[in-house]
Amino acid sequence: MESPLIDPFARAITYLRVSVTDRCDFRCVYCMSENMTFLPKKDLLTLEELDRMCSNFVRLGVEKLRITGGEPLVRRGIMTFFDAMSRHLESGALKELTLTTNGSQLEKYASDLYAAGVRRINVSLDTLDDEKFAEITRWGRLPQVMRGIDAAQRAGMRVKINTVALAGFNEVELFTLQAWCASRDIDLTFIEVMPMGDIGNEDRITQYWSLKDLRARLEERFTVSDLADNTGGPARYIRLEETGQKIGLITPLSHNFCESCNRVRITCTGEIYTCLGQEGHSDLRGPLRASSDDAQLEIAIRAAIGLKPKGHDFDYSRQTAAGQVSRHMSHTGG
Ligand code: GTP
Ligand code: 5AD
Ligand code: SF4
Repeated sequence: MESPLIDPFARAITYLRVSVTDRCDFRCVYCMSENMTFLPKKDLLTLEELDRMCSNFVRLGVEKLRITGGEPLVRRGIMTFFDAMSRHLESGALKELTLTTNGSQLEKYASDLYAAGVRRINVSLDTLDDEKFAEITRWGRLPQVMRGIDAAQRAGMRVKINTVALAGFNEVELFTLQAWCASRDIDLTFIEVMPMGDIGNEDRITQYWSLKDLRARLEERFTVSDLADNTGGPARYIRLEETGQKIGLITPLSHNFCESCNRVRITCTGEIYTCLGQEGHSDLRGPLRASSDDAQLEIAIRAAIGLKPKGHDFDYSRQTAAGQVSRHMSHTGG
């Protein structure tokens, strides 16, 4: 047995998030600016290198693998990678293989993903209104995503919607979103907007809608109870007693959850970020490419995890977006 990956704060690292591309077919206003410069393809880890990277993390104790982007399903040949990862599910080393997607390509890939062992999928969706959807994603169109969600459910996957809580944008849709998810047996999680990357003229403070407030709004209509459930992700769950529905709350701003952080992130160029909210990162592509033997890579992984910080410094309490990090969410995939 390998010794497990433990960080300086005694947190075991069992969850790896891998961004397989920085590209995306949408331009969500809180995530990207309209004119993004993407990485040259030659800088990306190849699918074989991604396989080696992930397989090493699995060997070192990672049990949950989440594929992200940009939009992971726009990476050419990505199904080959999912198919390859399914061997770790079959061996029992990996407990969950999953992805976070904008849903645009799901119609095409849902059944292949299911065949590769994906049983749960997170789809980002901030509004159920066609026009608002086009506005927030700039390039996205809602019907395409809806067909994707239908396809995922038909294929047998559990769908979770991730909604970024945005003041003045989807506040009015709280109950519409909640009821729509309940009617389709879809899970729903809200996320507080984080100060990541330059997004042009958009202002984080104006965008911010605290989930404390969102919860209070739910309490006006439902009996809300706290649940002890934990998927290993950052969400805390509540239940609406009247519908039995479970809702996730991801609250980096209003309630810090870093003490139980169990995850690290790899970018599509093989950098490891041990905290979403800090600039610090280390290169794993160099050690990976330096030798076909995995020893150097393992040393580099352990060294990086040895530097994992306690948590992020995001803070809006003084009416400024303190703790901002320079990279966009799409760089590390959330
Ligand atoms: P499940 O619980 O398995 O459904 O997934 P998850 O919540 O871990 O994954 P998902 O991709 O749905 O994450 C939702 C969002 O939560 C991410 O896109 C980020 O915005 C946020 N998030 C995830 N991990 C962290 C973290 O370590 N720190 C902070 N601040 N935010 C995070
Ligand atoms: N703050 C919070 N969530 C964000 N996402 C993208 N940018 C931000 C941000 N600045 C979300 C997307 C998606 C997930 C990958 O991260 O909506 O659900
Ligand atoms: Fe693309 Fe997701 Fe960013 Fe939107 S939030 S631009 S879908 S990566």
